[in-house]
This record gives sequence, C-alpha cells and structure tokens, in this order.
Amino acid sequence: MSRDGFGSKLGIIAAAAGSAVGLGNIYRFPCELGNNGGGAFLLVYLLIVLCLGVPVMLSEFVIGRRTQQNPIGAFKTLKPKSAWPLFGYLGVACAFIIMAFYSTVAGWTLEYIVKAVGNEFHGKDLETIEKEFVAFHDIGWKNVFWQAVFIFLTAFVVFKGVAEGIEKYSKILMPLLVLILIVLAIRSLTLPNAMEGVTFLFHPDFSKITGSVLISALGQAFFSLSMGMGVLITYGSYIKKNDNLATTALSVTLSDTLVAVLAGIVIFPAAFSFGIRPTAGMGLVFNTLPMIFNQMTGGYVFCIIFFVLLAVAALTSTISLLEVVVAYLVEELRMSRRWATVLAALGCMAVGVFASLSLKSDSALRIAGMSFFDSLDFFSAKILLPVGAFFIVLFVGWVMGKNAFFKEITNEGTLKLSLKGVIFFIIKFVAPLAIALIFITGFL
Ligand code: PHE
Repeated sequence: MSRDGFGSKLGIIAAAAGSAVGLGNIYRFPCELGNNGGGAFLLVYLLIVLCLGVPVMLSEFVIGRRTQQNPIGAFKTLKPKSAWPLFGYLGVACAFIIMAFYSTVAGWTLEYIVKAVGNEFHGKDLETIEKEFVAFHDIGWKNVFWQAVFIFLTAFVVFKGVAEGIEKYSKILMPLLVLILIVLAIRSLTLPNAMEGVTFLFHPDFSKITGSVLISALGQAFFSLSMGMGVLITYGSYIKKNDNLATTALSVTLSDTLVAVLAGIVIFPAAFSFGIRPTAGMGLVFNTLPMIFNQMTGGYVFCIIFFVLLAVAALTSTISLLEVVVAYLVEELRMSRRWATVLAALGCMAVGVFASLSLKSDSALRIAGMSFFDSLDFFSAKILLPVGAFFIVLFVGWVMGKNAFFKEITNEGTLKLSLKGVIFFIIKFVAPLAIALIFITGFL
C-alpha cells in the first residue's frame, strides 16, 4: 500500500503541532495547574517538557519514519515475534479512551460558539454564568448531541482523507489563536487584582511539590504533546526521509508549550480578579473566558472567533486520535477505510456518551470516587501515557540501539547533529529512569 507523505516541511510541523495544540493546552493545562499548586506545577512541567519532551517525541518519530508503519506494524517490523507490538495495541486503546472524553469537551466548544453568536453571555455576572454552565451539564442530551456532532466532524475529515487540507487552514488559524491569546492575556493582566493570579502562576511554592504534583505534570506534558501512545509514531511514518526530525520535534514542543503558558497567563489573572477559585476545574476556563469577553471592547466578536479557533484546535487533535485507530483497523485488520472510520467513530461515541452523562450533578456513573469522565482522563494521562512513553524510550534506547537511532535522526549521515549523543543518553538512561521514578512517587 502506498503511503502519503507530507507535502512540505511545514506540513508535518503543522500536523504534529495541530495534534499537540488543543484542549490539552487551553482547558486541561489550567485545570491541572490550578489543582496542583500553581507556580510549583508550572516549574515541574517546564522542566519535564525541556528534559523529556524532545527526546520522547524524537523516539516516536524515529520508530515511525524508520518503519513507515502504524505503531503496531512498526514494532512488528523492528522486533518480530516479540511482545513489543503489545505497546502498539496499548496506544490504540489509549487513543480510543482519550477520544471518548476529549470529544465531550470538544462538543462544548460548539455549544459555546452558538452561545457566543447569540450574545448569550452579554451583561451576565459570574454567578449566572456559573449556574448556566452547571445547568448545561445537567441537560445530558445536549452534551451528547454536541459530542456526536464533533465525532462526526472528525470522522468526516478522517474518512475523506482531507486532514492535510485542514492542516493547511490550521497553518493560518493556529497563529491566529496565539494572537488572540496574546490580546486576551493583555486584557487579563490589566484587570483589577490581576497580580494575584500572576503570583499564583509564576511564584513557585516548593513545599507544594508532592508525588501527585509530579505525576500530574508528567501526565499533562505527555498529554499536551500527544506523546506516549503512537500518534507521533503514525505521524513520523509520514515524514519525508530528508526532513530534519530533531528540529521538527523542537518546533512542535516549543509551540505547544507557548500556547499552554499563554493560556495560563490568560486564565489565572482574570480568575483571581473575578473571584474564581484556581481549583474550579472545568469552570476555570469555561466561566472565566466569557467573563473576560464581557469586559472587553469588541468582546462579542472576540468571543466568537476564540471559540471557533478553539474548536479547530480541538479538531486537529481529534483527527490525530481517530487516525491512530483507523490506521490500525485498515493496515492490520485490512478493513476498508470507510468501515474502519465508521466503526472507530461509533466505538468512541459508545464510550463517550457515558463520559458526557457522568458530568450531570446527580450522575451515578462514578469509579473510585471519580466521575467516569475523570477516571478516563486519569487512567489515560496519568497511567497509560507514562507507561507507553516509558516503553517507547526503552525500545529506542535498548532494542533499536544507537546506530539505527543516529542513522535515522541524521538522515543516514547527511545531517550534522552535535547533540545526538546527549539526546541518545537521555533516551537510554535518563528518560526511563525519570519516568519510572515519577510514576512510583506519584502512586506511593
Ligand atoms: N495533545 C492534545 C491536546 O493537548 C490531545 C491529544 C493527546 C491528542 C494525545 C492526541 C494524543 O489537546
């Protein structure tokens, strides 16, 4: 079967950055930061991204480009008749689980576009906006409806194979998202009492760093960079042989981190100014933002543009998630692309419905004290992704080995890469050890 390659260098960066930048940055990052001690979390997060982000991402790219295969096929090719392909299956399962709860929040962005167009936030105070957010969750069918629309949109793009077309738009739209975040950050920073939020975000209180903060930061880093489950193996398999993997990984990591930090600068000063608790979770983003737009000249237009861009950012991420499942069904189970897409979408929807409904205030859909939604989030980000990333670096460091790794990142010796020794050392020793240690302290 012939595999398409990305048309240009910017094509693959746009696709991988499209997968990375999404609700993870703008919705999940502030939630995790608010729940895990603010500045201390940011510091740990940045350290993890700096030390592990690029090496783990490179490992995935290398596996993908070397084999030109989906994650399962890739492991089968590199290490036939071993247990390694199991980690490919783990990745497919993880994509499926993330898709099930991610699509709930992605659906909300559509509801918020409709609300923004109808000027429904205008003139409302915080109490009313908060009440309406809770009331929205309680209308279960509405959440499920938007979730279904979002999954349908994703499936449509994946089925038509027009993801590249979407990526062309996202090359313009994502810089626009950064721009609007900068405008919002300025507005947020100039609100009364904004400094309290700035201190919360940037002033680390080291006593707050606990095992659970470490594992939350690790999980968030992997989640935000779409790492540890094979999305980047799949995307790596589409990268041209003469592209530079290292600079691609660096650009994607930097852009993703920029968007997350910017989102923090938008949310926290405003949240403190309006009196929204940093531990407010989902409300932190979905209530703070309408309040900011209410305090802005041109807020009506900005609000619409923002939620449209957020929906597009979410779409480029859900495309990558569904693509992993579909690529598996097509290449390993020899299904037609059409049926693979239908099956994958219906499967995600079947589990996703419960994620959406579990957020109703009287819902009994709970596991171990968490809503079903939260348990899918917890299980994927804090368990499956770290475990997946651990085995990916272990594979590249110990099974694939230095020679194959060097060959692949230097494009068979044609590129000079002075840091390659350091990167390989991190992949072979530092990354597996760090991930294992954080994982153990997180769950002790
Ligand atoms: N990285 C995406 C985001 O931050 C979510 C995602 C996770 C996508 C894992 C693919 C794989 O929104």
